[in-house]
Amino acid sequence: METSDGQSRPPAQRTRRWQLFAACLLLGGCGNHDENVESVESSQPENGVVENVSDPKGAYEQVCITCHGPNGEGNEDVKSPSIAGLPAWYIEEQFRKFREGQRGAHQDDGPGQQMRAIALSLSEDQIKEAAETVSSMPIVLTEKPGSDANIEKGRYIFANHCMECHRYNGKGEVVFHSAQLISLNRSYLRRQLKNFHAGVRGGEEGDISGNKMVDVTSRLNDEQIEILVDYIGALAHGDDPRPARER
Ligand code: HEC
Ligand code: HEC
Repeated sequence: METSDGQSRPPAQRTRRWQLFAACLLLGGCGNHDENVESVESSQPENGVVENVSDPKGAYEQVCITCHGPNGEGNEDVKSPSIAGLPAWYIEEQFRKFREGQRGAHQDDGPGQQMRAIALSLSEDQIKEAAETVSSMPIVLTEKPGSDANIEKGRYIFANHCMECHRYNGKGEVVFHSAQLISLNRSYLRRQLKNFHAGVRGGEEGDISGNKMVDVTSRLNDEQIEILVDYIGALAHGDDPRPARER
């Protein structure tokens, strides 16, 4: 099976995984359970994934670890991105978007829908706590580009179309609500750029920051997206786009 990001996966294995996950969502618990759950008073969300708020393990180990991995490094099999070291403000903002249906509500956004279901199952306190845990994890850099990558062209596009909001180092900027890019794995970067391009993400009315990305990516074709994914890899590993702005 060929997916939109050009990778083949065994469909049966993936379906089973999601069936398992859907089942544990319905049953109300995907995390590891402690024996003493009953003795704990907790502000449980309606269809809570997390049963035990005061579990010493915290929301990350109870819930997020299943898909985002022990170090927040992400997992290609479930299309979850590397989230380690994302700033807490960004994580909380994305959770708000997932919960309010600005992200992950589109019918063509399967991975977004999965994350939206998780976001809806948590309380505000759990989200805050998980965001703090994730933001304190050491950042995992995106992959280096291959030797055939057109870095010069990528540097030029990035300097002229991306740098003003994502900064010269691709670390994002809170005042623009823009994300950190250098830690996102290639397949995720590619999918998000295509999602914005197609309005699958960021197209909702009122999603001002998402609308900006829809606008920016509307001018990009698949080849340029690929060049940018390569370039973000180069950026993560030390390239500097600033001189390319003058060219
Ligand atoms: C069932 C698997 C699953 C679980 C459990 C899960 N996630 Fe996700 N998460 C995903 C997927 C898949 C995506 C990619 C969504 C997309 O493509 O838009 C994602 C995306 C995200 C994003 C957006 C990243 C970005 O760069 O915009 C954040 C933040 C996030 N998850 C945090 C968390 C946290 C914190 C938890 C635990 C409370 C968690 N996730 C639990 C699957 C999961
Ligand atoms: C006008 C400001 C602006 C410009 C220019 C811009 N971005 Fe963004 N970008 C944002 C904002 C704001 C977000 C967060 C959107 C959201 O909350 O959904 C974002 C999100 C993203 C994401 C998703 C990150 C994630 O963690 O899911 C990627 C990838 C991205 N931008 C890449 C680019 C690239 C590549 C360019 C240049 C072609 C670019 N952006 C230009 C403001 C901008």
